[in-house]
Amino acid sequence: MKFIKLIGLLLFAAAMQGCYYDNEEDLYPESTECDTSDVTYTATIAPLMEANCNSCHSSVSPNAGVITDNYTDLKVIADNGQLWGVVNHESGYSPMPKNQPKLPDCELSKIRKWLDDGAPDN
Ligand code: HEC
Repeated sequence: MKFIKLIGLLLFAAAMQGCYYDNEEDLYPESTECDTSDVTYTATIAPLMEANCNSCHSSVSPNAGVITDNYTDLKVIADNGQLWGVVNHESGYSPMPKNQPKLPDCELSKIRKWLDDGAPDN
């Protein structure tokens, strides 16, 4: 009889353990997931530039002559490696966004994905 109770207790403990891990995944879905499956210029990259870059790199008064607020001009720094160099804080490039922390990993992954796709106008 005691043995049966012990088995029961162990099974209960195992079941609780399962619940604990399930709950943790439900609570923090963002921390483990970065969806780069449908990255596009229009839906992903343009809003990222708007939020982090266009304030200093607009067509009207661009810092360093670098313009990030339209596809044609962004394509120039996408193709010559400057875009990745600055956001990834690579040596030889001025780190961007200027005087601000590096963009979150997921946003960098999305930029990388777009560049790997050939920086398309989509
Ligand atoms: C607060 C203003 C500001 C923001 C925000 C900003 N930049 Fe800059 N950016 C500058 C200035 C000023 C320079 C000139 C170089 C320097 O002072 O570091 C520059 C230079 C650059 C250059 C040329 C760098 C080089 O090494 O030659 C690129 C490319 C660039 N920025 C891209 C971006 C991108 C992409 C973002 C957004 C992720 C961004 N910048 C956000 C101010 C800014």
